Amino acid sequence: MANATATAGMVSPHVPGMHAGGRDMARLGMVRCWRRARRGKVMCAAPPSSVNGDVLMGNDVSKPRRLPRVVGMGSKLIGCGSAVPKFEISNDDMAEIVETSDEWISVRTGIHKRRVLTGEESVKGLAIEAGKKALEMAHVEPDEVDLVILCTSTPDDLFGTGAQVHTALGCKNAWAFDATAACSGFLVGLITATRFIKGGGYKNVLVIGADSLSRYVDWTDRGTCILFGDGAGAVLVQATAAEEDGFLGFDVHSDGQGYRHLNAKTSVGGTEEVIPSTNGSINFPPKKPAFSFIQMNGKEVFRFAVSSVPRSIVASLEEAGLTNSDIDWLLLHQANWRIIDAVATRLQIPSEKIISNLANYGNTSAASIPLALDEAVRGGKVKGGDIIAASGFGAGLTWGSAIMRWQ
Ligand code: UT7
Repeated sequence: MANATATAGMVSPHVPGMHAGGRDMARLGMVRCWRRARRGKVMCAAPPSSVNGDVLMGNDVSKPRRLPRVVGMGSKLIGCGSAVPKFEISNDDMAEIVETSDEWISVRTGIHKRRVLTGEESVKGLAIEAGKKALEMAHVEPDEVDLVILCTSTPDDLFGTGAQVHTALGCKNAWAFDATAACSGFLVGLITATRFIKGGGYKNVLVIGADSLSRYVDWTDRGTCILFGDGAGAVLVQATAAEEDGFLGFDVHSDGQGYRHLNAKTSVGGTEEVIPSTNGSINFPPKKPAFSFIQMNGKEVFRFAVSSVPRSIVASLEEAGLTNSDIDWLLLHQANWRIIDAVATRLQIPSEKIISNLANYGNTSAASIPLALDEAVRGGKVKGGDIIAASGFGAGLTWGSAIMRWQ
């Protein structure tokens, strides 16, 4: 079914009538419709097939979904917040730690400084602060929140930190979980939030991206330690009538083949002494487990990002029925200015439409998109109704994009 106006035939439940936990809403507004048809116009300057570059991944091409998409409520972003640690490390400071220079780091990455957790600071603390600010901006009380998604690859606890964050925020009617997808984590959390709203009857979902990669960086490896910083950012995603949906299109991918280019593996060594009752197994009981430092092949990750991100944004734009000229702001994961610049060039998006705060914070993993968004909103750049093309990419490998309207 061609569905150029995917929301047109839908029942629109009355949003103000929903209660915080409003599960019954799911029954009210649910209809099924097919994925939006492509609209027969040239969507972007660079269609997927024309994007140059060696592709590492096997499933890079966006395919139509296998099943009809369930369309219920729309979602909109109505608040944001962020938090960063106090301790700042400049490029000159980095040059005291490893053999590098301000010039090398600035020219190759665009990063000038970064923040790092110290003392009593924690991922949880940053996440709480960012989440609180997002709730305040959204004028949503903590007990009106239905779900908290903590997007992080560096929780304070291996079993997850999201529940502690939601409890500390006073979200007593919510539940919480952690979502791990490295630097794509926030995008994954955001998309998940809209699905709980669309099909689950949830009204308010708090999505927090918070990471501390400084804990997993080898501070003697100049190829990685200069890149990363710590931080948190959050958005409040709220249900809205389907015809007011501000989440216009998305596209996500993963490919384990590229894992070798960016990872922080667990290592669980065997015991040195064989214990007789373990049938001679040298791997039982295990020694204390640990994670290795971040291992990265920067050149391969760079090539992957520059080739895959434009493709993904084109796919999201197509789903949204928009073109690159409809984008008010390009908001990419803040990894390297050269990646951001190359993606913008391929999509023919002028530099004044790029949101970037990479210079001040480095690569903050799952925090980088909401942290940059928060600064752009509070700085008056991003205004109500603006269309944002956001894209995350990183370890896994994982990558994806979303087209959304601010407020
Ligand atoms: O969330 C995703 C996370 N990761 C990324 O996005 C990473 C993407 N990749 C990159 O950002 C870039 O590849 C890097 C910034 C990591 C590296 O830049 P590059 O232009 O690819 O440099 P390179 O690795 O090819 O190294 C060039 C030279 C080498 O020296 P030789 O072999 O040419 O003599 C390196 O040893 O630069 C040297 N080098 C450095 N020199 C000074 C590498 N790191 C440094 C450093 N300071 N920090």
